[in-house]
Amino acid sequence: MFSKMATTVHTPFVLLLFQIGVFSLPVSQTPQESPTCGYKSCHAIKPGMLNVHLVPHTHDDVGWLKTVDQYFYGARNDIQHAGVQYILDSVVDQLLKNPDRRFIYVETAFFYRWWKRQSGDMQDTVKQLVDEGRLEFVNGGWCMSDEATTHYSAVVDQMTIGLRFLNDTFGPCGRPRVAWHIDPFGHAREHASVFAQMGYDGFFFGRLDYQDRSRRKASREQEMVWRASESLVPPVADLFTGILPNGYNPPEGFCWDQLCDDPPIRDDPDLEDYNVEDVVSKFLTVAQEQVGVYKTNHIIMTMGSDFQYENANLWYKNLDKLIRYVNQKQVNGSNIHVLYSTPSCYLQELHRANLSCPYFPMRIDDFFPYADAAHDFWTGYFTSRPALKRYERISNSYLQVICNQMEVLGGPTSRNGSFGVGNSDTMKKAMAVAQHHDAVSGTEKQHVADDYARRLANGWTQCQVLVSNTLAALSGSSAPRVYCEHLNISVCPLTESSSKFSVNVYNPLARPVGWSVRLPVNGTAYAVTDSSGNAVDSTAVNAIGCTTWSVETNQKHAFLKVTFDPETGLLSSLSNLETQQTVRLSQNFYWYNASDGNNKDSKQMSGAYIFRPNSSTTFIISKTAKIETVQNSVVQEVRQWFSPWVSQVVRLYADSRVLELEWTVGPVPIGDNMGKEVITRFDTSINSSGIFYTDSNGREVLQRRKDYRPTWTLTQTEPVAGNYYPINSRAYIKDEKDQLTVVTDRSQGGGSIQDGSLEIMLHRRLLHDDVRGVGEPLNEASDLYPEGLVVRGRLLLSLNPPAVAANTHRPLAQEVVLQPLITFTEGLLPPNTRPEFSGLQTALPPAVHLLTVSQWDPDLVLLRLEHQYEARDSKEHSQPVTVNLQVSPLPSTFILLTGLSPSYRCAVCLSGEKPLPKTKGDPSVWEVTLKPMEIRTFLLRVRLR
Ligand SMILES: *[C@@H]1O[C@H](CO)[C@@H](O)[C@H](O)[C@H]1NC(C)=O
Ligand SMILES: *[C@@H]1O[C@H](CO)[C@@H](O)[C@H](O)[C@H]1NC(C)=O
Ligand SMILES: *[C@@H]1O[C@H](CO)[C@@H](O)[C@H](O)[C@H]1NC(C)=O
Ligand SMILES: *[C@@H]1O[C@H](CO)[C@@H](O)[C@H](O)[C@H]1NC(C)=O
Ligand SMILES: *[C@@H]1O[C@H](CO)[C@@H](O)[C@H](O)[C@H]1NC(C)=O
Ligand SMILES: [Zn+2]
Repeated sequence: MFSKMATTVHTPFVLLLFQIGVFSLPVSQTPQESPTCGYKSCHAIKPGMLNVHLVPHTHDDVGWLKTVDQYFYGARNDIQHAGVQYILDSVVDQLLKNPDRRFIYVETAFFYRWWKRQSGDMQDTVKQLVDEGRLEFVNGGWCMSDEATTHYSAVVDQMTIGLRFLNDTFGPCGRPRVAWHIDPFGHAREHASVFAQMGYDGFFFGRLDYQDRSRRKASREQEMVWRASESLVPPVADLFTGILPNGYNPPEGFCWDQLCDDPPIRDDPDLEDYNVEDVVSKFLTVAQEQVGVYKTNHIIMTMGSDFQYENANLWYKNLDKLIRYVNQKQVNGSNIHVLYSTPSCYLQELHRANLSCPYFPMRIDDFFPYADAAHDFWTGYFTSRPALKRYERISNSYLQVICNQMEVLGGPTSRNGSFGVGNSDTMKKAMAVAQHHDAVSGTEKQHVADDYARRLANGWTQCQVLVSNTLAALSGSSAPRVYCEHLNISVCPLTESSSKFSVNVYNPLARPVGWSVRLPVNGTAYAVTDSSGNAVDSTAVNAIGCTTWSVETNQKHAFLKVTFDPETGLLSSLSNLETQQTVRLSQNFYWYNASDGNNKDSKQMSGAYIFRPNSSTTFIISKTAKIETVQNSVVQEVRQWFSPWVSQVVRLYADSRVLELEWTVGPVPIGDNMGKEVITRFDTSINSSGIFYTDSNGREVLQRRKDYRPTWTLTQTEPVAGNYYPINSRAYIKDEKDQLTVVTDRSQGGGSIQDGSLEIMLHRRLLHDDVRGVGEPLNEASDLYPEGLVVRGRLLLSLNPPAVAANTHRPLAQEVVLQPLITFTEGLLPPNTRPEFSGLQTALPPAVHLLTVSQWDPDLVLLRLEHQYEARDSKEHSQPVTVNLQVSPLPSTFILLTGLSPSYRCAVCLSGEKPLPKTKGDPSVWEVTLKPMEIRTFLLRVRLR
């Protein structure tokens, strides 16, 4: 569709952190025009003394108890007193009063809202504060993302939006040096890996398992080097990681916000309650205690908390005094020095201390699950709000690939074309907000969850205009496009009511995929043809209440065999016919009774965050399933009814190497007054020896062992909840012979509580709040579902020898995340329509995943390529692979109209027709070699034909 004229190749993923063997922090060069920001703006410390770095900060949730905009304006203060606009107003004002003062700001979604509303004078003032390092951005993403339930592609995107705004607005001085995840409820290794690859110098967080924290305090191991990838060659994914001393709060007794009650420093001896001596001596005690659990003579104190600094004068006036009076004690022999600081200034001092390696311990696993007490495991939110989690995931798919790619392919016409004015920005921002640690995590109030969904829906509307404009321009037909958003529940008014219609399938992956399309239609008499008029294999499947047909073009092979127990109607075995493997595999649905607080061990209730089953007992929903089978040349289906609120369709498509289980759960009954956590469990003959595997944010896979943590000795207090882990895209169990992999369609929690078994939590309906602030039981219902939310989803099963299993599950998980776009047009396509076209010249090698193609500015396209295999995954694919951007120009997209045929042919034919212009330049720049798990980012200049 277009070709490149010239190319600028940038690599925003700067990879340089620790030299092997030495703790060395790269202190970035500060540009000449702004000589004092960054590390150079840090206050002097006193060598030989205990230096206490005070970090004034606010933690501003991008939605939680209130919506993001309510928080910004300070609306609905009856729910929670919080107004971010006032925080920024007040902080800027207070920073100007004293050049020693410092402040860090984190959530760019809020900062952006505020900045837009400031006068030019105020913007200049703020720029100066940033240039002088008095106001410093840390983390800098649009939000502070959740780590358990997010997909790395959406995390990279939301970081990009925030960092780009900061760079465009403030230049190099706006660049955050440290990642700052003070509130997320457990920490994913893949997040640390992404931060390291994005060039952050360090990472700080607040929450980790209470047992882990207590032994780290005792052994002074609260700071470490996190080796966040088993594939990327060290030190690419090594990141200095610090655990903050008080979560992210100030030490007890030193909270001077208007939201706190601690006494101010009263320093006039003539007035009542003079307390300077008292406050100073208390502070010295706190500092001495803290240095006892850290290694160096620098300690950090977070001076702030949730939505604090709305009246920043209170904080700063008292901090000024604290610093003055504590430091005055030095004349009398005190060796404690207090200073205004930031996390990066603190980090710089650790760097300057020339600590020899291995001074800090190395961490190679992750920080899941997170427990703050013996029966308080934050493993419920892995599954909370399953419908929102799915909506977020398909929105990601739609944005990443359809909307972004169509914008690139269509050029300016996509944004203003025959269907009007559309954009991708609305969806980008809605998705960025949805990554917040109280958004996709499912830990917000109901009205806030509705707000996130509404934002995503607005994003879809804008994207659909854009996509229609591009498809019209590329196909030459401006027949209206119809998007059936309820296809997942077999609802599509157009296909159900018209006798002739066209199906358009857009495959966003840079390689051909076979995909079956199921559509609700009226009757069974349909003929399906592809774009050349050839018949396509399709079949009507009579289902309960509606009729669907399926289209599929691949040749028939049987790869899998599934058996059911005729007496129970349950799955009984799964075989891979190619490899001649068979495992016993039974599956059923169960629920845990959510604790209501009346439990002999603990008063902790199950809630949006916490999974606290009343006991380890699972209640079976039904020992047997009523079944019905449907079989035709395209698909074999077994429909199972377990109860009025649990059913499943097991599908095996011809030519497919995976078994599809489409489950439907809800409305979960609560008439018995029992909250329920609904799971499905696979029990197999696989000898898994207490071990199972889960992915981290959809990327690398971590080994999990029952009742065990790799780097510390666990006292297990919750046999089920304490063995739950986040599953973002896949989990598996294996032995020497067999690996059973389950690919999920959204983030869910799961565990392997018995050998050979794998359970996944699908839905939760709870009657109590878990006392972590949200203040509502997780009991979802809506106008559409007044009896309680019904959720449907898919699990994809594959059985392979362990050595080659990744060859199946890696591409499969990407296909589930990045689904083709299906659109419809009424009637047949007009004769002059171009039925098939492609932006791809050649398919990418199988190991390479096209992570991002997105319009960066009017001239440039952002491109990210990724090696999608881990180093240990596969003999075949875990090799370095070279892509020549010149012969494989991107974006690698292809478009198919009508029916489904392998798109490879089409892609090749286009490039054959239009040879690429020769580009002058260094051939080595055009050749990109990707090693396992590497991501490379480019900005390409493209010209539309
Ligand atoms: C950062 O911003 C500067 C202008 O301040 C711009 O020239 C540069 O291209 C930006 N970098 C990126 C990667 O966008
Ligand atoms: C230092 O000690 C002297 C003598 O005890 C006392 O007068 C003075 O107030 C002390 N200074 C401070 C800052 O505490
Ligand atoms: C660290 O090493 C540098 C260079 O050798 C030296 O100038 C500096 O004083 C050392 N810093 C400390 C705290 O020892
Ligand atoms: C869209 O294009 C039309 C026709 O060229 C033009 O009149 C209109 O102003 C454009 N709208 C926007 C928002 O750019
Ligand atoms: C389905 O087809 C029947 C028979 O042709 C017709 O009467 C009915 O209106 C159609 N239903 C819809 C929803 O179009
Ligand atoms: Zn938070």
